[in-house]
Amino acid sequence: MTRIKNCKTLLSIALLFSMAPFAVVAELPGEALFKQKCSLCHAIDKKKLGPALQRMSGEAEILRETISKGKGVMPAYEGKLTVAEIDMLVAYLLANQ
Ligand code: HEC
Repeated sequence: MTRIKNCKTLLSIALLFSMAPFAVVAELPGEALFKQKCSLCHAIDKKKLGPALQRMSGEAEILRETISKGKGVMPAYEGKLTVAEIDMLVAYLLANQ
């Protein structure tokens, strides 16, 4: 009996670990998302292809709109990022202005 119990415990631990990478891919925190998706064109304090974070709008709604719909050469991220991911990016942008 105890053997079967242990086996189940092992199985659920294995399941937990195998699911962890998916959780990370699905929702990265703002900083990691920014580095991965935005840092090619944006930096915190200097202009790259796009404006520095410090020169961006301080309005969450405007930031959210720009990220979702894109602007000029900036691609739209609606459908590529989840609403929660866009929210985390907005929080990251606002926190670094
Ligand atoms: C291919 C380059 C590129 C990438 C990648 C990119 N952007 Fe941009 N972004 C730009 C450019 C260029 C502008 C200026 C657009 C304009 O004003 O015509 C801009 C503008 C913005 C603005 C508007 C700033 C303001 O206040 O007017 C925000 C916010 C923004 N980007 C956030 C992001 C975020 C967040 C990401 C990552 C998910 C991202 N961008 C990825 C090039 C890029």
